[in-house]
Amino acid sequence: MKLNKTCAVVLAAGNGKRMQSGKPKVFCEVLFKPLIGWVLQNCKDANILDICLVCSEDGLFKFKELFGSTIEYVLQNQKLGTAHAVLQAGNFLKTSQSDDVLVLLGDVPFLDSKTIEESYIKHKQEDNQATVIAATLDDPFGYGRIDEMDGKVTIVEEKDATDAQRAIRKVNSGAMWFNIKALLGVLKKVDNNNANKEYYITTAVNILKRTGCYVAQDDRIILGANTNQQLFKLNEVARNRIISQKIEQGVEFIAKDGVVIGPDVTIGKGTLIFPNVTIKGHCSIGADCVITSGSFIEDSNIGNNCEIKSSYILNSELKNNVRVGPFAQIRPGSSIADYVKIGNFVEVKNSSVDTKTSIAHLTYIGDSNIGARVNFGCGCTTANYDGEKKHRTTVADDAFVGCNVSLIAPVNVGERAFIAAGSVITKDILADDFAIARAKQITKTKYMQKKKKEKKNG
Ligand code: UD1
Ligand code: CA
Repeated sequence: MKLNKTCAVVLAAGNGKRMQSGKPKVFCEVLFKPLIGWVLQNCKDANILDICLVCSEDGLFKFKELFGSTIEYVLQNQKLGTAHAVLQAGNFLKTSQSDDVLVLLGDVPFLDSKTIEESYIKHKQEDNQATVIAATLDDPFGYGRIDEMDGKVTIVEEKDATDAQRAIRKVNSGAMWFNIKALLGVLKKVDNNNANKEYYITTAVNILKRTGCYVAQDDRIILGANTNQQLFKLNEVARNRIISQKIEQGVEFIAKDGVVIGPDVTIGKGTLIFPNVTIKGHCSIGADCVITSGSFIEDSNIGNNCEIKSSYILNSELKNNVRVGPFAQIRPGSSIADYVKIGNFVEVKNSSVDTKTSIAHLTYIGDSNIGARVNFGCGCTTANYDGEKKHRTTVADDAFVGCNVSLIAPVNVGERAFIAAGSVITKDILADDFAIARAKQITKTKYMQKKKKEKKNG
């Protein structure tokens, strides 16, 4: 079902006093992604692209940083209630090409595209002016209750409810579909005659005549974050849900203890994830990889059949059959080609490493372009920083860099060049050259025995 004649108004002007974070509540993160990011992604997944965000002045800058001009913004300077918030989007609604609008709360992250689509279908089939997305909870405390009589939906907030109404378990998710014309007609009629003296969007539903209710099967779609405890619970729910989706897709886990995988991560079949692995941000990981405990991967793309052992990979790209770690760090801006080996205690930063190169132990490669089939011995360094500027190092295909070599950038090493262990290289080396740059060894024959004798004889 295409929702192309629809738009959304997302309410995010609240300040989240109860979260003790100081920032607008919708910037609180679930699996490293702000609540509002989840909500907008759900809209996108349901093909609703025409979105107006109602926000406060102090959040505007950050919202624009996150979403740029992909959505519209309107300010609600005084928080007089959810209907008052929707009213701020009046111009957006009046000029919209859509027939229907989905009103969403910015702090309810799991109201997914399936729920959005199914509730829209019901809204259209019943030709409603308003369709409330609801769920049935064992403990409905704090939510608006849905009181239905003769097909007419009325929503009553906790504080305004009678005892009989408080016993109702069917509650308002806060998300609702409106026919735009009907909504614009009724918004001005909403009063604030309630315990909180707020203009409630739920009152608009109560005034309209043709109203309906879509009850989601999974009551977790309703979960919001009003407190830090609830935010923690959202993380747990999201974490478990993502892991079980991955299992369905053929990703393997030994135990899910400490495994945290963000919502924008794809993982191929047959990849095995050990406990205590974090994969956050936008990542794609191929098939048949192994990622062992302690690994932390952020905003990176990793190919098939790679082995990441207890290592950090940040904002980088690894092709297929790459081995990393244990205890390596691939820092932002790196691209690692097929069959490369990055061994223990190796750091690579802002560098490219070509096919089949081996950097196996205790080495730092920064701001460098390393060719194919290069071998680095143990303990090599690219000295990329002179205290003021960063400089680049290039090492061409098939070069051999001995143990404990320092490459003082800017410097270039030619194809098949060979650098003796312990060398400090400050000048370019051409193809097929041999370079050695270390002090000559002096060996004094039986010197130690002589010393000993001298000591004994006083
Ligand atoms: C609201 C619903 C309630 C529902 C519950 C679900 C109303 C009157 N009540 O209650 O029926 O069960 O959500 O979570 O709608 N906001 C603004 N401007 C305002 C007031 C709120 O932008 O003036 C935004 C907040 O940022 C928040 C959202 O609207 O994201 C919901 O507001 P909140 O005060 O948390 O409503 P609830 O009391 O949770
Ligand atoms: Ca709320």
